[in-house]
Amino acid sequence: MRVIKAKSYQDLSRKAANIISAQVILKPNCVLGLATGNTPLGTYRQLADWYRKDDIDFSQVTTFNLDEYVGLAPDDPQSYHSYMRRNLFDMVNLRPEACHIPDGCAADLSAACRDYDAAIAQAGGIDLQLLGIGSNGHIAFNEPGAAFEKDTHVVTLRESTLRANSSFFSDGCVPRQAITMGIRLIMQARKILLIAEGPGKRNALHRALYGSISAEVPASILQLHPDLTVICHVEEDT
Ligand code: F6R
Repeated sequence: MRVIKAKSYQDLSRKAANIISAQVILKPNCVLGLATGNTPLGTYRQLADWYRKDDIDFSQVTTFNLDEYVGLAPDDPQSYHSYMRRNLFDMVNLRPEACHIPDGCAADLSAACRDYDAAIAQAGGIDLQLLGIGSNGHIAFNEPGAAFEKDTHVVTLRESTLRANSSFFSDGCVPRQAITMGIRLIMQARKILLIAEGPGKRNALHRALYGSISAEVPASILQLHPDLTVICHVEEDT
């Protein structure tokens, strides 16, 4: 495990974008696992900026997102599909057919989960998985208590996660269920890059990296990953 302390959110974003760029440069047809939320916004801005300057080419890259809310159509502005188009997909030359996000509107959600796992396997697995961390220690939408041995599945979100994510919803009403990659699938990524920003993440990050490995802190399983990089900026700014 490598832990890199960033000087600022901008520094964190630039360092994370550097690691993603290095992956794309070294393996142009790589498979990236992507996250949503507030933390990766600066990373995506930086990648889009480098793309505009012709410093990075996504034309052969395939992506798989971690999660999507159940019941939100891809064109719903509050869906993770829309978030990804706004913040990355429409800003770079990723091929639309190479960008995958779980289908939260599938008539058969279990089949959609199985299809998602199969598509990841078909693509050769994830080379680099970007993760954020919830202040309750969740990764993707694997909430405290979640089993470690799951692939893509449907989850019911905890109150703390609904509250944390309510700022993304104009009416404050966050869907109560989501499709998420499970922890087994995340742990199969060849490299993991975890980014954490803000004092609100300090405690969760500390428990995840240095506490005992327990389902109560889903991110603690990452201690067992052979190639984990953490970039954090969780101290109070002075
Ligand atoms: C997002 C995701 C979540 C977030 C986490 C942190 O796809 O899976 O686990 O990474 O909730 O969110 P932010 O970055 O908004 O603090």
